[in-house]
Amino acid sequence: MTETTDRKITVAVLFGGRSGEHEVSLMSARSVLSVLDPARYTIIQIGISHQGAWLGGENVLDALEKGDTSGLHPVFLSADPTRPGLFSIAGGQIEKIADIDVYFPVLHGTYGEDGTLQGLLEMADVAYVGAGVLGSSVGMDKALFKDVMRANGIPVVDYITVLRTEIENKMEDVVRRAEALAGYPLFVKPANLGSSVGITKCRSRSDLMEGLFEAAQYDRRILIERGVSNPREIEISVLGNDQPQASVAGEIIPGADFYSYEAKYILDSSALNIPATLSPEQAESVRRIAMRAYKACDCYGMARADFLLEPATGAIYLNEINTIPGFTKISMYPKLWQESGLAYPSLINRLIELAFERKAERDRTVREFRRQS
Ligand SMILES: Nc1ncnc2c1ncn2[C@@H]1O[C@H](COP(=O)(O)OP(=O)(O)O)[C@@H](O)[C@H]1O
Ligand SMILES: [Mg+2]
Repeated sequence: MTETTDRKITVAVLFGGRSGEHEVSLMSARSVLSVLDPARYTIIQIGISHQGAWLGGENVLDALEKGDTSGLHPVFLSADPTRPGLFSIAGGQIEKIADIDVYFPVLHGTYGEDGTLQGLLEMADVAYVGAGVLGSSVGMDKALFKDVMRANGIPVVDYITVLRTEIENKMEDVVRRAEALAGYPLFVKPANLGSSVGITKCRSRSDLMEGLFEAAQYDRRILIERGVSNPREIEISVLGNDQPQASVAGEIIPGADFYSYEAKYILDSSALNIPATLSPEQAESVRRIAMRAYKACDCYGMARADFLLEPATGAIYLNEINTIPGFTKISMYPKLWQESGLAYPSLINRLIELAFERKAERDRTVREFRRQS
């Protein structure tokens, strides 16, 4: 909030969501909720179920974790800025629960990190943490993201994009185009997912065809990429609006063939190395690329930029950006800031400040055209 008042700021933290990363979101939200200072903030929890139900009440996060939401009640946000606030529906009655100063989406993947929720929040004309509609949707779509990066001269691996219907009806053609791109291994990915869901490392034509069918279950647009050999996985956290800053770099050592869903959440075999062991030139390059990419996608608030470094050639490729990165205390995004001198609670406070700054900036835009007579 720009003015200094003693009034507490009401923050609505949104978590769960209609996404394959629902459970990851609950873990991130657990950490965010644990550090929001109750002396400074009034905290309202909004849980979004797997089916997309918005739920409020007491201990919403506990209820979603336990999978028993019977004690919760439906809540909704008015998308009409002339009727602001969060409402509940109980016994058929609609009641306003609170005026929310800022929304904090701790939602990963579809309907949370992809611009759809951000569209609703824009309609409602409220302050919210993180990137807006455009940055979120470009960051979410791995194909469009790479197109935008290429247009900005930012290095990305060679890739092609194919449609589900092409996989179903013209497989031979798709295989021919994929094999013309590069030799095996090739990576196949759904354009709009995270957490490595639906991603296959393909070592042969039969792997490729299997991987394409697998990915096509999750999206209508599929990426095929040249596999980087023995990639080093380097990540940078970016924070800020018009003048973003980059953290130190960190490295992930997946402890599996690649950083798959299992390596991320099940095997517990991955290690983080912070700061990453890089030459000063490499460290400078990744930071510069991260900030250029952030601006190119019109990101604000926060994002984590993920790179693949190819040891044999020394090439640095930007792989993706995540506009709502993992937020547990052991997640890379907050850990990189911690290492850069910004502790987790201060990071959360800063993100909320940035949301208000962004809202104030957005409010400067004229929405009505009046001709001067
Ligand atoms: N082109 C590639 N070459 C080598 N490894 C890759 C490539 N693309 C992805 N990977 C591996 O797969 C993992 C997941 O892919 P990524 O594009 O980051 O998707 P997600 O959004 O699901 O994290 C990466 O962390 C990396 O281990
Ligand atoms: Mg990734």
